[in-house]
Amino acid sequence: MKKKGKIVTAVAGIFLFLTSATLFGGGKKGPTAITGVAIPEGYRSWKVVSASHRTDKGEIRLILANDVAYEAFQKKTLPFPDGSILAKLAYKAEKHPAWEAALVPGKPMRQEFMVKDSKRFSKTGGWGFGRFVDGKPVGDEKLYASCFPCHESGAADQDYVFTRFSP
Ligand code: HEC
Repeated sequence: MKKKGKIVTAVAGIFLFLTSATLFGGGKKGPTAITGVAIPEGYRSWKVVSASHRTDKGEIRLILANDVAYEAFQKKTLPFPDGSILAKLAYKAEKHPAWEAALVPGKPMRQEFMVKDSKRFSKTGGWGFGRFVDGKPVGDEKLYASCFPCHESGAADQDYVFTRFSP
C-alpha cells in the first residue's frame, strides 16, 4: 500500500510539473495576434528609446526596445538584427491633476510590437506586427495589411522604423 501511495504521489507530481510548465513558460506563448506576434515577456522593463505626442489623436506614446534593438539604436546598426523587438505603448494624453500645463500619459489605449525575424516576416520587411488592447490581441487581416505599407512609406531608409533615438 505504501509503495502504491508513493507512485500515486510521484505521478501527481509529474502531472503538476508538466501542467505548470505548459501554463507558465515552457515555451507557451502569451496572448498572440493573428500575425503570430505575441506580447513579449517583460517588455515593460525595457529601456526607453523615445516618446511621441500624436497631436491628431491626443495620445502620448512611449517607445521601448529590448536589449538587441536598443544596442542597434545606439550603434546605429541598420538593418536591425533578428531578435530586435520594439514596443509602442500609447496612452490618452491627459492634464496632470495637480498641474494643468503638464500633459501626461493617462488611460492606456493600446500596446503595439514590431518583432524582427527576417525569414519569418520576409514579406513585411522582416518585421512582424502585433497590436493589443488591455493585454488582448486585436486586429483582423485588414488592419495588419495596413501596418507595413505605412512604415514603408515613411521610414524605409531606417529599416521601416520611424522612431529616432532620443539621447
Ligand atoms: C498610417 C501610418 C501607420 C500605420 C498604419 C501604422 N503605424 Fe506604426 N508607427 C507610425 C508612426 C508615424 C510611428 C512613430 C511613432 C508614433 O506614431 O507614435 C509608428 C511607430 C510604431 C512602432 C514603434 C517603432 C517605430 O517604427 O517607430 C511600433 C511598434 C508600431 N508603430 C507598430 C505598428 C503596428 C503593429 C501597426 C499595425 C497594427 C502599425 N504600427 C501601423 C505610423 C503607422
